Amino acid sequence: MSTRKKTSKVNTTTATKTSSSKTTLTTTKKTDQWKSQVIQELMKLPGVGRATALKLFESGYASIRLLAITSPRILAEETGIGEKTAQKIIEAARKVVKMNFVSALDYLAIRKEVKRITTGSKSLDTLLGGGIPTSAITEFAGEFRTGKTQIAHTISITVQLPEEKGGLNGCALYVDTEGTFRPERLIPIARRFGLDPEEALSRVYVVRTFSSDQQMEVVRKLRSEIPKLNIKVVIVDSLTAHFRAEYTGIDSLAVRQQLLNKHLHDLQRIAWGFNIAVVVTNQVVATPGILFGNPQTPIGGHVVAHNVTYRVFLRKGKGNTRVAKILDAPDLPESECTFIIADDGIRDS
Ligand SMILES: Nc1ncnc2c1ncn2[C@@H]1O[C@H](COP(=O)(O)OP(=O)(O)OP(=O)(O)O)[C@@H](O)[C@H]1O
Ligand SMILES: [Mg+2]
Repeated sequence: MSTRKKTSKVNTTTATKTSSSKTTLTTTKKTDQWKSQVIQELMKLPGVGRATALKLFESGYASIRLLAITSPRILAEETGIGEKTAQKIIEAARKVVKMNFVSALDYLAIRKEVKRITTGSKSLDTLLGGGIPTSAITEFAGEFRTGKTQIAHTISITVQLPEEKGGLNGCALYVDTEGTFRPERLIPIARRFGLDPEEALSRVYVVRTFSSDQQMEVVRKLRSEIPKLNIKVVIVDSLTAHFRAEYTGIDSLAVRQQLLNKHLHDLQRIAWGFNIAVVVTNQVVATPGILFGNPQTPIGGHVVAHNVTYRVFLRKGKGNTRVAKILDAPDLPESECTFIIADDGIRDS
């Protein structure tokens, strides 16, 4: 990718298209190599021959970690492999990734595989324990204009940085459910981090979705693309908007929650299965009758609350400052920080 000529002025509307088609051509050989590597890896599992390995690969199971966290019924359904064989494959995968019994020490080693992406603000990174973590879903919830989309834009650039600069040397996949993704916003952010804007834009894959069904399908179909395209962060901006617009009224609430639950499980599976970061944004609603505490609650109720790993609540401060507060985290103290929204992304205030 670095062979591409630098251009001083970037035409953002064509940049993503032209660059990504070149990228596809230049990476075909690499992809083939990677495919045969994955197939070899899968064939190491007892009972998995070439044909089964291929079937697994084509259905997006290009990761033993992902197999290990899949249930036999789903694997059988999605690959056409018999349920008994699926069960054997999953058991073998679980042994490889030590998912049965492990000591806390082994578990610590697994936790050390978790990497982090900088948000562009040191104080926000610190609030999150060092940046946006992989193998987890991080939710940014807040009212309109609190900076959720700006954070999402910044991360889609910072993920591309080398690890020593707070990135993961990878690409971003941006699921834009509200039509608020702006490629031109990425240009000053890329420049700030010393990246060539055209190259940086070519590493952000964007899908605009128009329904909850399409949103769910994108995430399901993503599985085979994540390792192939070196995607290290999947951003869903916003997680709940389609669900909220389509399932109105008390009658459809149960269905909506059930679908959201399934969607979040799919997101968890890709986060853990590929050790990548998943970032979702969420709006809030006023909770009437609250006398103490926060009168605003993120949409999606318990289903979202229980399925996201880290929950960050955003609110407006003075001018362009914003306040972030950790609402729910298994290993972080409840604390607050401030950051600003600038033309070149999220920064310390
Ligand atoms: N180029 C820019 N330079 C500085 N600030 C900007 C720039 N573009 C947008 N902003 C600021 O970002 C804020 C909007 O943030 P953002 O779009 O992230 O909100 P949001 O939380 O996603 O809202 P919503 O719920 O409506 O999607 C606005 O206050 C705007 O002033
Ligand atoms: Mg937004």
